[in-house]
Amino acid sequence: MFHRKFIILLITIVLLMISACQNLSNTTNKTNVNTTQSQTASNEIPNRKWWKEAVVYQIYPRSFKDTNGDGVGDLKGITEKLDYIKSLGIDVVWLNPIFSSPNDDMGYDISDYQNIMKEFGTMEDFDVMLKGFKDRKIKVVLDLVANHSSDEHKWFQEAKKSRDNPYRNYYHWWNEEDGKPPKRVSFFDPEGDAWQYEPNTKSYYLHYFSDKQPDLNWENLKLRQEMYSMMKFWFDKGVDGFRMDVIHFISKDLPFKELPAEFNGDFGKYYGSGPKRHEYVQEMYREVLSKYDVMTLGEAGVGMQDALDYVAEERKELNMIYHYEGVSLGYSPKGKKIVDPNGWKLTDFKDVYTRWDKNFAEKGWNTVYLGNHDQPRMVTRWGNDSDEFREVSSKMLTTFLLTQRATPYYYQGDELGMSNIKFDKIEDYKDIETINWYKQVKAEGGDLREFLDSHKISARDNGRTPIQWDNTANGGFSTGTPWLKVNSNYEKLNANAQDKDENSPLNYFRKLTALRKAEPTLVYGKYTLIDKDNENTYAYIRELNGKKLLILLNFKATESFVKTEFDLSKARVLLGNYKDFSTDGKLKPYQAVILELSN
Ligand code: NOJ
Ligand code: CA
Repeated sequence: MFHRKFIILLITIVLLMISACQNLSNTTNKTNVNTTQSQTASNEIPNRKWWKEAVVYQIYPRSFKDTNGDGVGDLKGITEKLDYIKSLGIDVVWLNPIFSSPNDDMGYDISDYQNIMKEFGTMEDFDVMLKGFKDRKIKVVLDLVANHSSDEHKWFQEAKKSRDNPYRNYYHWWNEEDGKPPKRVSFFDPEGDAWQYEPNTKSYYLHYFSDKQPDLNWENLKLRQEMYSMMKFWFDKGVDGFRMDVIHFISKDLPFKELPAEFNGDFGKYYGSGPKRHEYVQEMYREVLSKYDVMTLGEAGVGMQDALDYVAEERKELNMIYHYEGVSLGYSPKGKKIVDPNGWKLTDFKDVYTRWDKNFAEKGWNTVYLGNHDQPRMVTRWGNDSDEFREVSSKMLTTFLLTQRATPYYYQGDELGMSNIKFDKIEDYKDIETINWYKQVKAEGGDLREFLDSHKISARDNGRTPIQWDNTANGGFSTGTPWLKVNSNYEKLNANAQDKDENSPLNYFRKLTALRKAEPTLVYGKYTLIDKDNENTYAYIRELNGKKLLILLNFKATESFVKTEFDLSKARVLLGNYKDFSTDGKLKPYQAVILELSN
C-alpha cells in the first residue's frame, strides 16, 4: 500500500518538473523571437504601449480591391489581400468608414452605424475579414463618425417628422419663428451655409459638412448613450480601436450666438473649441474606452495645447491626436487648397514636426502622416513624381515617416509610391469637396483655371484612385468600371512588379517596418533636430539608452550637403535609398539614410 502511494507521488513530482521545464522553454523561445527589442525591455523604457510601437496602415476600402466587378472596392477584396497586407510588416489597419451610407461624402455620412455598407458586403464578410486579420496578428481600427450622421439615418428621418418627435433632440435645430439663424459656415455646402431649411417642421438644422450630414446633438444624453453602446458593439466583436472623425467638433456653441470676433471668420477653429468637448471625451473614456485594451486616435485640427489636453494620460481621454499643421503648408491664404505659387519651405516643414515632437515629449504621444484619404499623394505633394525621382523621393518620405518619435499612419498605395492622377476636368472628380468648391468659385466669377491647376496637386481624389495591383486592365483593381479612374501609370507602377524588384519602394517599406520593429530607438528615442536652417536637408538624431541614430534626408532634386559634428566615416548604415553613401555629408537627390553613430 505504502509502496503504491510512494510511486504515485514520485510520478506526480516528475510530471510537475517536466511541465515546469516546458513553461521555462516557452518563455525563452518567446524572448528570442523578439530580438533586441525585448532585451532593452520594459524596465528601461517607461510607459511602453503596443499602439506606440505600431505602424498603422490605412485602407480606403472603396479603392482597395473590388471582387464582384461593380467597380467599388469591398471587404472581400481586403480579405483577398490579407497576405499582402501582412507582408508589409505593419501592425494595425485603420479602415475608413465601412458602415451603411448613401455615400454623399464617401461613407462619412452614416445611415446605420451597426451595419455594413451594401457596396462593401455583409456583416459576415466583415467577420471573415476580421478573423483573417486576427489570425495574422494585425489589429483593426474603425472610423467613428460621431459629429454627424447621414440625413438618411433613422434618427434624422424621425427627427424631421415633428418638433416633438422623440428623436428631435438627436440633432440641432433653429425654429423659423426665431428669425434667421446666426451665420455658421458649412465646409461642403455649395452656398457655404451650415443651416438647411426643413419645410415640414419649419425649422433649420445644422450641418457643418454637407446638408446630407446633419450634426448630432451631444448635449442629449440619449444620443451619447447610443454612441457608447454602438462603440461597445464593435469592441465586443473584437475591433481594436477607433479613429475619431472631427472629434473636436462634437460640442456646440449653444445657443448659437454671433461668431466671436477673435476667431476672425475661422469657423474650423471656432467649431473645434466647443465648451464641453473634453467633458464628452472623458465621459466616453469612462463609459467605454477604459473597459477595453484599444487604441484611440482623434482627428482634430487643434492647436498644441488642446491636442495635449486630449492625450495627456492623467486626463483619461484619448491616446493620440492627429493635427493638420504639417499638411496645411504650401497653400495660399485664399483657401480652398489653392496652391501657393511660392511653394513651401523645408525650414517651415522641419519647424512643424519638431514643435509637435516637443509637445508630447513629456506627456501623451505623437502621430505622423503625410498621406491619407483627405490628402493628395505624398510623393506629388512633398516629394517629386517625375519618372526620374518618383521612386527615390517616395522612399525618402517613407524614411521620414518611420523614423519620427510618433506612431506613423501610412496610407495605402504610398508603399508603391503612387502619384497624383491630376484630372484636367471637373467632370472626372467624384469628391464633394472639390465639386462644391468648384461651384463656389464659378458662382463668384473666380479663376477656375487656377482652381483646377491647384487641385491637380491638392485634391483629395488624387489620394483615392484605386490601388494598382498589376499591369492588367484597371491595374487589377476591378474587372468592371472603377468608381474613380485608375492612374494610367499602372502598367509600370504596380504592386506585382514591385514585389519582384528588390529595390522597389514596396520592398523598401518592408525593410523599414522591420527595422522600426527591431530598433526601439526609432520608436521611443529622443528626437533632436540638427542643421536647423538648412533649406535642403532634414537631419535629426534619435537617441535611447546610449544608442544614437542619425537620419539624413535630402528633400531636393539636387545634391545637398548636411552639416553635422559627427565623423560619418565611423557610422554604420542601417538603411538607405541609394547603394552608397558619402561620408562627407553630401547627399544625392532625395537621398535618405539611417545611420548608427559610434560612441
Ligand atoms: C474628416 C474626414 O477625414 C473627411 O474625409 C470627411 O469628409 C470629414 N471629416 C467629414 O466627416
Ligand atoms: Ca465591389
